[in-house]
Amino acid sequence: MKYLVFLFILSSCYSTGKKSGLRFTERIQREVIVDEVVSLPPAGNQEELLREIELLKEKFHVWQEITTEANDGLSEIWPLLTKKCLYCHNKDRPLTILERPNPTINPIRIQLEKGINALDFSSKFPLLAQGNPSQLAILNSLKSTILDKSMPPKSYTLLFPWKKLRAKDQQKLINWIDPLIERLEEFDQKYVLPFEEEVTKNKVQRVFQLKCVRCHGNGNSKGEFGNIENLDELIRTKYINEKYPEESLLFQVMKNYEMPPNIRESLSFEELDIVLQWIREETADL
Ligand code: HEC
Ligand code: HEC
Repeated sequence: MKYLVFLFILSSCYSTGKKSGLRFTERIQREVIVDEVVSLPPAGNQEELLREIELLKEKFHVWQEITTEANDGLSEIWPLLTKKCLYCHNKDRPLTILERPNPTINPIRIQLEKGINALDFSSKFPLLAQGNPSQLAILNSLKSTILDKSMPPKSYTLLFPWKKLRAKDQQKLINWIDPLIERLEEFDQKYVLPFEEEVTKNKVQRVFQLKCVRCHGNGNSKGEFGNIENLDELIRTKYINEKYPEESLLFQVMKNYEMPPNIRESLSFEELDIVLQWIREETADL
C-alpha cells in the first residue's frame, strides 16, 4: 500500500513537472525515495535512481493493465461462477435463513466459512484467500480444482447435480485462467524476481509463497503446521533434520509428492533443489 501511495505521488509529480518546477520535483522525488528505500533496489547514482523510478512506474502500469484484463475476463465468466461457485465463494452473498443461526456449530455455515476462506471472489481480481497468498498461488489452485473437477464438492453436487462442472464450463474457466497465469509469471520475471531472487533464502520464500502459504502460512495451519513464512523459526522445528538435511520431514513430504496435496502443484526438481540447498546452508552452522 505504501508502495502504491509512493507511485501515486511520483506520477503526480511527473504530470505537473513543468520546466520551472523540475528541480523542486526532483527534490521531492529524492525525499520520498529516502523514505521508501526498502522498496527500491540499491542505487549508485542519480541516473540509476531515475531508471529505477521509471521501472517502478512501468511496473505499476503493467499491473493495472493485468488487473483490468483479468476483470474483463472475469465478467464474462461471472454468470457461470454465479451458477456453480459463488454460493460458497462470495463473502458478500446474503445468508439464507438456514445459514444464519449458530455460526460456530451450524454445519452449513461452517462449510461456507471454509469455502470463503479458501477463495473469495467478492472483490474480483485480485482474488482473496485467507492468509493473503500470491495471486499465482490462488490461480494455480483454482486451475487444479477445475481440471480435477473437485469443485463444487461432491457432497453438494449429489444434492444439486446441475451444479456439477461440465466440460464446456471447464474450458471457459481455463480460458480465463491460463493466459492470466502466463501474464503474472511474465510480470514476476520482469519486475519481481530480479530483486528478490539473489539469495537462497529469498528463493525458498518464494517457493513456499507459491506452493504452501495458502495452507501453512499467514495464519493458516493445516495439519497443525503453520508459520511457514518465518524461515528462521522453521529451520528450528521438528520438520528439519539438522544432521541429515535430506531426511527432513519438510523436504520428504515435498519430494514424495505428498505436499502440496494436489499433485498438479508438486514442486519442480529445481524448486526441490532450492529447498534442499537452503536447509543445507542453514543447518551447516547450527
Ligand atoms: C457448496 C459449497 C461450494 C461450492 C458450490 C464450491 N466450493 Fe470451492 N470450496 C468449498 C469449500 C468448503 C472449500 C474449502 C475446502 C477445504 O478447506 O478443505 C473450497 C475450496 C476451494 C478452493 C481451494 C482449494 C484448495 O485446495 O485449497 C478452490 C480453488 C475452489 N474451492 C474453487 C471452486 C470453484 C471453481 C467452484 C465452482 C466451480 C467452487 N469452488 C464451488 C465449497 C464450495
Ligand atoms: C491445499 C492445502 C495444502 C497445501 C497447498 C500444502 N499443504 Fe501441507 N498439509 C495440508 C494438510 C491438510 C495437512 C494435514 C493432513 C495431512 O497430513 O495430509 C498438511 C500437512 C503438512 C505437514 C505435516 C505433516 C506431518 O506429518 O506432520 C507438512 C510438513 C506439510 N504439510 C508441508 C507442506 C509444504 C512444504 C507445502 C508446500 C510445498 C504444503 N504442505 C502445501 C494441506 C496443504
